[in-house]
Amino acid sequence: MKTNDKLIIRALNGETLTTPPIWMMRQAGRYLPEYKATRSLAGDFLSLCYNPKLATEVTLQPIRRYDFDAAILFADILLIPQALGAKLWFVTGEGPRLSTITNQNDFDMLGDVENIDDILSPIYKTVKNLSSNLPDKTTLIGFAGAPWTVATYMIAGRGTPDQKPALDLIKSNQKVFDLLMSKITYATIHYLSKQIDAGAEVIKIFDSWAGSLKGKLFDQYCIEPTKLIVSELRKIYPNIKIIGFPRGANNAGYINYTNMTAVDCVAIDSSVDTQWAADYLQKITCVQGNLDQRLLISGGHALTKETKRIVKTLSNGPHIFNLGHGITPDANPDNVTKMIKAVRE
Ligand code: CP3
Repeated sequence: MKTNDKLIIRALNGETLTTPPIWMMRQAGRYLPEYKATRSLAGDFLSLCYNPKLATEVTLQPIRRYDFDAAILFADILLIPQALGAKLWFVTGEGPRLSTITNQNDFDMLGDVENIDDILSPIYKTVKNLSSNLPDKTTLIGFAGAPWTVATYMIAGRGTPDQKPALDLIKSNQKVFDLLMSKITYATIHYLSKQIDAGAEVIKIFDSWAGSLKGKLFDQYCIEPTKLIVSELRKIYPNIKIIGFPRGANNAGYINYTNMTAVDCVAIDSSVDTQWAADYLQKITCVQGNLDQRLLISGGHALTKETKRIVKTLSNGPHIFNLGHGITPDANPDNVTKMIKAVRE
């Protein structure tokens, strides 16, 4: 099937479809027994990311089980910091840890953007494998973290509830903060170009912590770097489809982000009122979202009802069905089947 005939691409081209295409953030992951089995074969999460054969396998697992309309490359947004020379490891049950960047010295220790492929080339190999192994109708999504979200982890050395270390660095040493943002931005443009060269048909930019940027800072550090990434990619690949996810942005933030970055689709979290999205966002772009991922733990009638409500509310414009955030390890795989049935029937 030609890329343009695939359901996800049709929605991204602005088409209103009778049944929205569907995929899930974090669709390959620990809620699936087959994922856990492959991960233990690899040894640990990072070894899995850098093993093209096994990363291809875990990307395909949710496609086989659920027949989603898109597959998302199995990797992580924190591979860019690692490729730039930050130390990265994962603490079981807690999450990522990185060496921190808090001053000019730390920044100077980072490597050059030109050398990131020394670390990242296995990821391109995975994309290439996927590109030739996916079912004909399935769209291949590549991704990266947005510079702000990646910077919050590089500065704090871990995930934080309020991104305070990064917000503090903007105030105490904006020069180093800006240097870091710029380095991440150019690394991301390069990384995404390589994913597209290898066969990614859609790119998603995850700004998971966009909500902590308020006022002018949101424009400066969420919208501006994303806009640059989008425009640089489109110089080389005029037809590449891009989904942006400024999680936690307020309504005005979502609108400005959509208009200013020129993404082809905006992904909304579950705190966004679906009717508001239909009335305002969907008039200017394709909308992706926004089922509360917690419903996949509890399931039941509430899951079916809420799934149908979202599909109906967004049925008058281009829509890709998805969650408001990633599926959690305690979700029940059978509830995913139920959700898909509610979307497609
Ligand atoms: O969506 C997919 O299935 C594709 C792969 C993917 C992963 N991470 C795999 C992963 C994608 C697209 C991501 C994005 C990502 N990674 C984001 C942005 C999206 C979001 O959820 O907000 C962020 C902030 C990260 C950073 C990260 N990676 C954290 C905070 C953690 C620990 C918390 C957690 O969910 O475990 C990870 C680990 C991670 N990334 C796992 C997976 C499958 C779990 C690793 C494991 O133990 O097997």
